[in-house]
Amino acid sequence: MDLTTRYMGLHLKNPLVASASPLTRELDGLRLLEDAGAAALVLPSLFQEEIEAEVARYDRLTSANEDSWPEATSQFPALVEAKHGPHHYLCLIRRASEAVDVPVIASLNGVTNEGWISYAKLIEEAGAKGLELNIYFIPADLTQTGREVEQRYIDILAAVRATVSIPIAVKLSPYFSSIGNMALALQDAGADALVLFNRFYQPDLDLTRLQVMTDLKLSEPSEIRLPLLWLAVLAGRVKLSLAASTGVASSNEVIKYLLAGADVVMATSALLRHGPGHMATLLAGLEKWLASREFNSLDHVRGLMSQRKLKDPQALERANYIEILEGYSQH
Ligand SMILES: Cc1cc2nc3c(=O)[nH]c(=O)nc-3n(C[C@H](O)[C@H](O)[C@H](O)COP(=O)(O)O)c2cc1C
Repeated sequence: MDLTTRYMGLHLKNPLVASASPLTRELDGLRLLEDAGAAALVLPSLFQEEIEAEVARYDRLTSANEDSWPEATSQFPALVEAKHGPHHYLCLIRRASEAVDVPVIASLNGVTNEGWISYAKLIEEAGAKGLELNIYFIPADLTQTGREVEQRYIDILAAVRATVSIPIAVKLSPYFSSIGNMALALQDAGADALVLFNRFYQPDLDLTRLQVMTDLKLSEPSEIRLPLLWLAVLAGRVKLSLAASTGVASSNEVIKYLLAGADVVMATSALLRHGPGHMATLLAGLEKWLASREFNSLDHVRGLMSQRKLKDPQALERANYIEILEGYSQH
């Protein structure tokens, strides 16, 4: 069975990728995921705030001491290096790249295009085979227009693109007026792939304590529908590689995402629930289904049910919405 896959210019042995999570923070987790068949591994994000904190700490140390003890500044890099945060992250990339044979993709999470972008270069130099940009931005400023929000994504991508030559994926949120147009704009700005979608962790309210609750809920398979729709719409119509992310619990979701047109399918929640070995279950389920349908290559499956290939492309648009509402029957 030929499962080989091309994703953001990388050659992968199959389409299953472990997305950023605590499992990919440790070498043991990375090795277990590789052993279970993961074809690429996305490290957890390095956050803009972590980089800025380190830069500020370094500035404080150097400016406080440079008059009284000039030679001390030469020791500061070592001091900074002892800390967690960015330095620790670069070490993780280096050690992960040595520990596993599959490509290691780093992840940067930020919201502006200044100050911290140079870290992308260090990430490349540390050996990451690709970079995922997670622009986790909530436009809570009521004066900001949709256009300005879109431009922010493009500016950040363009700044990173100008800094590195490794492939870049943008992990997008679904909250754009026109996902397709945004995809094209990101493509023009130098993205190699889109990850659909970033999962926003919306808060809840605790009615007893009157506090904002920030607990993290793992995803459910019902959440695949939004990414599935947009993957099906974009497949074959953009040059970007497409990664499906959110809601993969079993091989059923993997197969649906591939049919919609995903190049790779990512998983986190299912791996946190069942352990890294669950990657092997996802892979075995995919192979079993392909064999049962007598497909001998993923190329015959990928995008088979994308909008471009559907006999009735309207099935993904407004006409289907009306039909769904009319077809509802109360039990
Ligand atoms: C505990 C936890 C930590 C995560 N950390 C990151 C992260 O550092 N960077 C990132 O881009 N996504 C992070 N994610 C999001 C996942 O990579 C993934 O996009 C999301 O969980 C949806 O996929 P799933 O439905 O398979 O869980 C995290 C998710 C979880 C549950």
